[in-house]
Amino acid sequence: MAGSVQAGLAESTRGLFPVKVAIFPDLHVGITQESTARLVAEKLRAEAPDVIVLAGDLGEPLPRFEQALDLFADVDCAVAVLAGNHDVWNRFEIETSEELWNGRLPGAVRDRGFVWLEEENIVAHGTAVVGTIGWYDYSAKPPEFAHKDDEVMFRTKKVFNNDGNYIDWPWTDVEFAGMVGASFVQRMEAANADPAVHEIIVVTHVPVFPEQASRQPGNNPRAAAYFGNWSLGRVIEQYDKVAHVFSGHTHDGVAAVHVTPRGRGIPCTTVGSDYGAPRYAVWGE
Ligand SMILES: [Fe+2]
Ligand SMILES: [Fe+2]
Repeated sequence: MAGSVQAGLAESTRGLFPVKVAIFPDLHVGITQESTARLVAEKLRAEAPDVIVLAGDLGEPLPRFEQALDLFADVDCAVAVLAGNHDVWNRFEIETSEELWNGRLPGAVRDRGFVWLEEENIVAHGTAVVGTIGWYDYSAKPPEFAHKDDEVMFRTKKVFNNDGNYIDWPWTDVEFAGMVGASFVQRMEAANADPAVHEIIVVTHVPVFPEQASRQPGNNPRAAAYFGNWSLGRVIEQYDKVAHVFSGHTHDGVAAVHVTPRGRGIPCTTVGSDYGAPRYAVWGE
């Protein structure tokens, strides 16, 4: 059931200033030193955003994810959280990926009074923040690998991406992408139908538009299949209220405009937040 949370904004400022949303993916606490993450979190807090979106890959295993959340424990604004692919790894065989996804991660988020963006939207100043992990479904697979079917792409993933080694949930990538995609569409429909919402900021962990793809492809171009979900982008582009799309996951910063088949330009950003060098983007300055 799609719900929404009204971010607490001073009534006197409503309508005078655009809402300020900070998007912070790929903190990777544990790989990134906590002291480094703390410095960036303090800098972000000084920006005084209305909404902070922690957009996946906060840290693993679970205590690292919780450390990342606790960097924002006493901020004076709404905090929304998405998981990333690393956050559902069961590398140390503590909690299964299914337990993390269905219970431990949303539980850790809600215990702190934060919003699990995978199930609820945030609405502030007439702007809705709608998000999802946006799991890859191989629609970003380069054309030269078109002959590799979904089963091959799934079975051989571990050669190209550690998700294939450390994620032990029972779903294939196509199944999981379909599950989270359907739930995301419900929340988009709710925001779209809400007369109080005049624009939508979409935040995903995995990029959704080809224009957001990494400009530094690795040695093996097949790995790109695990770094985008272009079919989700084709859904998002149908909503005229979408003002901007932000993603993470590739760690390679890109600012671009996606042009829809109807000729509308949607600004899109991949935040270049990397191991050891976490970064955030601010919308509405
Ligand atoms: Fe990441
Ligand atoms: Fe990621």
